[in-house]
Formats: sequence, structure tokens, C-alpha cells
Amino acid sequence: MEVLIERLNDQGLGICYINNIITFVPNTVIGDLVDVEVIEKHKKYNIGKVIKLIKKSNLRVDSICSYSNICGGCSLINMNYKSTLEYKKNKVRNILKKFSNIDINLDIISFNNINYRNKVTIHVKDKKIGYYEDKTNNLVEIDNCIIASNVINKFIKEISNYNIINGEVVIRSNYNDELLINFITDDNLNIVKSNLKIVGILQNGKVLYGEDSFIEKINNLYFKVSYNSFFQINRDITSYLFNFIKENILKNKNVLDLYCGVGTLGLNIAKEENNVYGIEIVRNAVENAIINSKINNINNTYYLCGEVKNCIDKIKNNIEVIIIDPPRSGLDNKSISVINKMLPEQIIYVSCNPITLARDLNSFKNYKIDKIVALDMFPNTYHVECVCLLKLR
Ligand SMILES: C[S@@+](CC[C@H](N)C(=O)[O-])C[C@H]1O[C@@H](n2cnc3c(N)ncnc32)[C@H](O)[C@@H]1O
Repeated sequence: MEVLIERLNDQGLGICYINNIITFVPNTVIGDLVDVEVIEKHKKYNIGKVIKLIKKSNLRVDSICSYSNICGGCSLINMNYKSTLEYKKNKVRNILKKFSNIDINLDIISFNNINYRNKVTIHVKDKKIGYYEDKTNNLVEIDNCIIASNVINKFIKEISNYNIINGEVVIRSNYNDELLINFITDDNLNIVKSNLKIVGILQNGKVLYGEDSFIEKINNLYFKVSYNSFFQINRDITSYLFNFIKENILKNKNVLDLYCGVGTLGLNIAKEENNVYGIEIVRNAVENAIINSKINNINNTYYLCGEVKNCIDKIKNNIEVIIIDPPRSGLDNKSISVINKMLPEQIIYVSCNPITLARDLNSFKNYKIDKIVALDMFPNTYHVECVCLLKLR
């Protein structure tokens, strides 16, 4: 069936209508004229597959990746970069309107950097190395990922030397092109010589060679990051986020840094604040945060290890500013209720999921949006980060 792709949904899938039923078609761009076959029928929608691209949209560009459309990664890679930014801006705007009735214009900050990812997870199946096709366990063999850092790409080409047969390889790189590798497998691994700057190699979290952490740097701050601690994946955007928070946060306050990871966002502002209290579930990350305070000569930070919902009411100090940077699932009801009782003057909500951001904003009735900015943390994918400043009404 010949159809026009009218727009993209929140997951970057093209939308068209076949017999008046909304149909989502992967690997298409707004304005493409395509021959589509329906491959899945659901109650309220269909999934389609492109049989033939009849007329290319003028938003289309030649893909810079030989695995695009198959590896399950960069769903916007066929669209010119400027249009991907418009798409992300509109996506955040529409979601805020739909789920929290907030009608707001926002900017999107971007650096259009290609090799931005400092962490990837590579799958290995019967010695074949690659990514899984979207929503399947079908392996797409790759030896290069254009959004990963150059040094990660160099390591991908060396994976087979380690004799892994089945499993996963989590590869992280830092500002200094050093690598930290965790093989998740029960295979007997070979530890081989490499000319790359490998700081540590682990197997299922146990050190086989070197260290279990490395040092990251954002702006003028250094962070120890363990193999299983979270770290923002796009250094340029994180640097912008640091500056944005530093410029906009109220000064000389008691700050609560929820979901603090290795202490990143709180340490960025600690020197201008009274005290910073961080809560984080991963023990290694909390240990990193304590060391990171020392490394950066900061002595007004305090950390609790545990779930935010179980720890937040253990903070008895008067909290005046809260930074929130949760996983995609957003906040839980108990934490929201404690935050509303704490009634801080300012909330800084950093989110990688505009839907849970919009949902959670509805719960902060005493606050109004002061500023909101979208950040292109994940170029070429449909994902978008937001930072939202809320002030007490
Ligand atoms: C998006 S990351 C943000 C980390 C940090 N703010 C940063 O900028 O690097 C979310 C963090 O929340 C932690 N986390 C996830 N669920 C949690 C929970 N229920 N309670 C506390 N921390 C949690 C994760 O381990 C991760 O470090």
C-alpha cells in the first residue's frame, strides 16, 4: 500500500494511516512516500514494514552508518540533524501539553557530536559480535558503532582476541581515552596485550586485570567511576548541564541531590552551597561520591546509600533546593509526597524521559516552571534529556 509518512511517534517510528488505522513504520522519515506492508495487527494500531521507498522525503540524508535500520540503535539516523532537533523539541512540547497541560516553548541544546557515547554494551553469540536487532535477540554483527567513542570502536575490533563465546561486553571510555571493560560471561577468557589504554578488565564484576574504576572529567572536576556506577554518556552535553545548573541554582542553600550517582551534579555546585546531601542506590557509586568529594577538595557533602523512597525522610536538615535526576521511571509517590512536605524553594529536575517528567510535574502543585531546556544527549536516537527549573509559587 502506497502511503505518506505524516509524522514520527515518540519512539521515532513513522506514522501513516492504512484503512484509517494508525500504522507505525520503522526506518522512515517525515515526508517519505513508501510502499508499506502491515506485518503486525493490534487492536488500535498496526506495525508496518517498508517494501519500497517510492519517493524520498527532503528531510532524508544518506546514512553515515552501515548498520542503520538493522542494529536497533539510531532510529533517526536517516533524517537531517536539524530536523531531528525539531522533532525532539516538539516531542517534549507535545508530551508536556498532553500529560501535564503545560504549554511552553523550549530550546534544544546540541553539539551535533558523532562519537559521543562513552559506554556501549556489545553482545556476543557463538563468537559473533554485535548489537541485538530492535526488540529481538537476533544478533546484527558489527565491528564499528558510529555513535561510540573512537577508542571504544578500536576495542570492539579486539573483542574476539579475548576468546569470549557467549555473553556481553560492557565497554566504557573516559575523557583521556582510557578503557574500562566488564565481560559478562562464564567463558574462560584470554587476557591479551593491547596497545589501547586499558585501565581495567573485569569478568562479571571481578577484576581480572588492573582496576575496577577509572577517572572521568567534566569541566574542572574529576570523578572516580566504578565499572557499575552510572555516568552521563555524552560529555559535551553534561558539561553544558553542569554550567546550566551552576548558573541557575540558588546559592548558599542546603541542597538534596536525589539519584546522585557518583556525586556528579551535587559536586558541581557544592562549593557555592551550604551543604549537599546525596542519595543513591548503588553502593560503589556512593563510595565513588565520597572519594570524589575529596578528590575535588569539597568537604560539605554527605551521602546515604539506598533507595530514594527509603532514605529521603531520613534527611532531617532544612532542605532548600532539590536536584532530581531519576532513571526513566521517574519518581515514586512516597518520594513526591516527602518532597512536597520539604517544600524547597527550588527543584531542578533532570530527566531522560519526558513522559515521566510530565507526570511528576503534575504532582508539584506548589511549583511553577521557571525554565526548561531540552538537551540532545543522545544524537541520532529518539531519546531526549530535559532539565527543568521549578520555583515555589
Ligand atoms: C540518571 S542517573 C543520574 C546519576 C547522577 N545524577 C549523574 O548525573 O551522574 C540515575 C541514578 O539513580 C540511581 N538509582 C536508580 N534507582 C534508584 C533508587 N530507587 N533510589 C536511589 N537511586 C537510584 C542509579 O543507580 C543512577 O546512579
